[in-house]
Amino acid sequence: MNNINSFVSGEELLLQERYKNDIRKKIQGRGYKAFVFTLGCQQNEADSERIRGMLKEVGYTITEKEEEADFLLVNTCAIREHAERRALSIIGRFKHYKAKNPDIVIGVCGCMTAQQHRSEQIKHSYHYVDFAFGTSLLYRLPEFINSALEKGKRRFLLDSEKPQIAEGLKIARESSYKAWVSIMYGCNNFCTYCIVPYVRGRERSRNMCDILAEVRDLAGRGYRDITLLGQNVNSYGKDLEGKPTIADLLNEISKIDGDFMIHLMTSHPKDASSEMIDALANNTHATKHFHLPLQSGSDKILKSMNRHYDKARYLSIVDELKSKIKDVTFTTDIIVGFPGETEEDFEETLDIIKRVRFDSIFSFIYSPRKGTPAYDMEQVPEEVKHARYDRLCEIQNEIANEINQTYVGKTIRVLVDGKSKNNENVYTSRTEGNKIVHFESDLDDTGTFINVKITRADTFALYGEKI
Ligand code: 5AD
Ligand code: SF4
Repeated sequence: MNNINSFVSGEELLLQERYKNDIRKKIQGRGYKAFVFTLGCQQNEADSERIRGMLKEVGYTITEKEEEADFLLVNTCAIREHAERRALSIIGRFKHYKAKNPDIVIGVCGCMTAQQHRSEQIKHSYHYVDFAFGTSLLYRLPEFINSALEKGKRRFLLDSEKPQIAEGLKIARESSYKAWVSIMYGCNNFCTYCIVPYVRGRERSRNMCDILAEVRDLAGRGYRDITLLGQNVNSYGKDLEGKPTIADLLNEISKIDGDFMIHLMTSHPKDASSEMIDALANNTHATKHFHLPLQSGSDKILKSMNRHYDKARYLSIVDELKSKIKDVTFTTDIIVGFPGETEEDFEETLDIIKRVRFDSIFSFIYSPRKGTPAYDMEQVPEEVKHARYDRLCEIQNEIANEINQTYVGKTIRVLVDGKSKNNENVYTSRTEGNKIVHFESDLDDTGTFINVKITRADTFALYGEKI
């Protein structure tokens, strides 16, 4: 048995079912519409699918047009200042909807609202917001909406002291072939720049049997691309009885029938074990893409970031992955301008970028987060951060372009992702190594695997012909 304290109780979930019934009665026959705006990472995308699932259950139709919505919700992100500014500006523009129609309900949730100073800011400066709540209280959305429909008191709740997992929430998946499956929530790592452990609580893993049931169901319904989600999927199971590992989970998933790929998002290098790499290498479904956040190439900065690995260890994981998984592709996250980063430290980052040769990198300018240890450290000047960021991008773009040119002439299997935004007959797809491939076609093969012969490449994508 697993630790039952990690799960929201049956009674609590039943109470929410009652609120759902109350909402149904209140909005029945009114044709109410709901608009959900999502900022941030895949974890938030996955949360929004749960939100939409609950909203549909109680009778709302989901709309993409905010101006016609009767319920508006912003699912916020707090990872960098820019994300918070965007959230506040979106909440700000909802003001006039409420002014026009006081019956409209407006809510805010997600990482930003799990911080006390932001929750108070919304409460005091955005009077038309009916409720805001932290990430682990998502399952109480019916309670908050019902109370707002009754014109009850405005509600502002941070996270629960001991966040728990709510199993069984309905998920309204956006895609019919690509799915997120959360395998764990929260983070225990406290990297000194990162707000996540403060807004998503400690690590808690879902039961392996619940995850496997979800993956089996998705595979049975023809899903082709399944991402196992968690802030640090490599430490999956440490809080469960029997301590199943990510390798155990991958090995069980490998036994599930179906033509689907499995991605991991995200792995922490400090917990990347050989056992896990073997489970990926021998997996029937694992993709050949590995996202391994590096953050910095300098041992001094990695230590100050509290990352628990050094440059040599990172390189040895990469070598092991390259030797065990043929044609593996790598992506990473890099933070530029972390407090105390000198020119030499930054050059260590450039050095490792050149050595690993990532297929692509997600680079971020360090953004001080209130409440994290790095907030109080000596900051790198803005202009230095920006100049380093530009240098990093330039070098990476060159590497990505060189790697992409090696694909020209090859035929590769891709999963078709739909029509390209800019061109009618052009489709976008992804390789097993998660590389973007554009190709022309008169047929819509979205959601299926096809073969494409690569004819051209640039820094950001491959281009080819359907075979
Ligand atoms: N500033 C800049 N980037 C950050 N990240 C996390 N916190 C910060 C911050 N304060 C980046 C890390 C992480 C990614 C999701 O966001 O690179 O891996
Ligand atoms: Fe943030 Fe580090 Fe946890 Fe990732 S592992 S969510 S960067 S604290």
